[in-house]
Amino acid sequence: METVFIGRNLIFLPEADSTNSYAIELLKNVKLEEGTLVYTDYQTHGKGQRGSSWKSESSSNCTLSVVLFPDFLKLQNQFYLYQIAALACNDTIAELLNSSQFDIKIKWPNDILVDHKKITGILIENNVMDNRINSCVIGIGMNVNQLVFEEGIKATSLKHCSAQHFDTVVVMRLICKHLERYYLLLKANQTDLIQYEYEKCLFGKEQWMNYEKENKLIQLKVKGLAKNGFLIMEDIEGTEIEVDVKEVKWLS
Ligand code: BTN
Repeated sequence: METVFIGRNLIFLPEADSTNSYAIELLKNVKLEEGTLVYTDYQTHGKGQRGSSWKSESSSNCTLSVVLFPDFLKLQNQFYLYQIAALACNDTIAELLNSSQFDIKIKWPNDILVDHKKITGILIENNVMDNRINSCVIGIGMNVNQLVFEEGIKATSLKHCSAQHFDTVVVMRLICKHLERYYLLLKANQTDLIQYEYEKCLFGKEQWMNYEKENKLIQLKVKGLAKNGFLIMEDIEGTEIEVDVKEVKWLS
């Protein structure tokens, strides 16, 4: 590991229902070191955002969770955790793929797309006490060598993009390296820099695209992020609107 604390305590499970659930259970019973990494080769009941599931072929991908204690972060700033996790995955993918040949983007808040197809999903589960984040589990599912995906899902993997096989342990180490770098920036209160880096990678930035909003098809373009972590978009009349994650759906 090229890290100081993330992944130093590594819990490898040949099979797990969900690495996030495993880490959350551990947190209830054991005093864990910050940066503890739970990693599995086969996740049988992976959890996705908003109650969905995350399916990942056995021994093909990275399915991992990192435990952090960001007690320095106010609850209203928790979206920075999404930003650093997304940036860490974005940078990992850019380092592994010849990034000039691919369009690698963060679809707000934290999906990573390559050439408009999802390659990584992130699920963050926080334990909150007294308006502070007591513990945080960052769950990352990165498609590495999987080539076949469920029908109707626009997904890709590192191998699908490059026709190259990747060592999932190498990928996991890179994710940890980049996550630690961004987490230390967050700890050092470098939130403007984090937001600047994040906005540079935003999918749909300054591009007119089709979205569904209140059951209507409309054209919008992404302008950036608001102070509360919401997405700022502009409509064709030039009006800026702030949207939450459920309010708009990108129509590919
Ligand atoms: C999504 O895009 O819906 C988020 C997917 C998050 C999947 C990862 S895989 C490792 C960790 N454990 C889980 O159960 N989920 C996350």
